[in-house]
Amino acid sequence: MKTAITEMFGIEHPIIQGGMHYVGFAEMAAAVSNAGGLGIITALTQKTPADLTNEIARCKDMTDKPIGVNVTFLPTVNAPDYPAIIKAIIEGGVTVVETAGNNPVQVLPYLKDAGIKVIHKCTAVRHALKAQSIGCDAVSVDGFECGGHPGEDDIPNFILLPRAADELEIPFVSSGGMADGRSLVASLALGAQGMNMGTRFIATKEAPVHENVKAAIVAASELDTRLVMRPLRNTERVMTNDAVEELLRIEKEKGADLKFEDIIEQVAGVYPRIMMEGDMDAGAWSCGMVAGLINDIPTCKELIDGIMQQAEDILARMNGYAAAG
Ligand SMILES: Cc1cc2nc3c(=O)[nH]c(=O)nc-3n(C[C@H](O)[C@H](O)[C@H](O)COP(=O)(O)O)c2cc1C
Repeated sequence: MKTAITEMFGIEHPIIQGGMHYVGFAEMAAAVSNAGGLGIITALTQKTPADLTNEIARCKDMTDKPIGVNVTFLPTVNAPDYPAIIKAIIEGGVTVVETAGNNPVQVLPYLKDAGIKVIHKCTAVRHALKAQSIGCDAVSVDGFECGGHPGEDDIPNFILLPRAADELEIPFVSSGGMADGRSLVASLALGAQGMNMGTRFIATKEAPVHENVKAAIVAASELDTRLVMRPLRNTERVMTNDAVEELLRIEKEKGADLKFEDIIEQVAGVYPRIMMEGDMDAGAWSCGMVAGLINDIPTCKELIDGIMQQAEDILARMNGYAAAG
């Protein structure tokens, strides 16, 4: 299946693995890229730019296919060394960068000069248009269903994707709630040229996370995520657990007076304990509603081949309807 996205990124299938904190290591990205999708390393999971350089080199040892790096711009006081991160990406020979969080205008000229394609992840049509106007090559449109940060507008993908299609000139991929061949065909029907998945890729054999995380996703239904940090306008969709229920209790108690410090125990620095040690109640971790559609732990190749096969079957069936009609 050729689309503007497969052509732009030089990949076989229009499927991207979105950047994920403490999941997007070299093993994850290489497995997705080797299966014909676009695997993405998460820059901020690496402690230093030198570590990112090593991670990119490790990934390139595992695959000859294109890989991407996610650069998330966080609303933080101690900003990471973004110029050094960008330098590591350029010198590492990476061909695609997924930006997220804030507008990437500061780093865009350096990436473009190096011939790197930039896909910006956004949760609103106005942000997608902004990304287009500053020169991003593509956008990833993240609906309200998504794991991680869905923004504050709460527009699900059945509205957001066709809205994006009506306004954008650059290609875009759907993101949030995507799991299988049905998701891919629906995304194409709504105007996207591919799809991005986060949560689905965590429940794969190669995902370098503790088995408890994979089991929690398989066990969860679509009812098991919660939105946290809304009072801080930093909303995150997470898997519910004891720490999240306590976080929500604190949010309710503090109301409009809530400060980040009040919930620091539940959100700060918890990812290594969850993703690496499998301590599933250590704190809040991003997870999409799509957990309700995830019932197995395939290899990335089995997952992607299965998606493409199902998509082709659906398209053939639809063609059959059209011919019969
Ligand atoms: C555990 C986890 C960690 C994530 N970390 C990041 C991140 O660091 N930066 C980012 O841009 N997106 C992050 N995301 C969002 C994903 O890249 C992707 O946009 C999202 O998962 C899509 O929704 P889905 O989970 O329904 O597929 C994360 C998602 C998950 C599930």
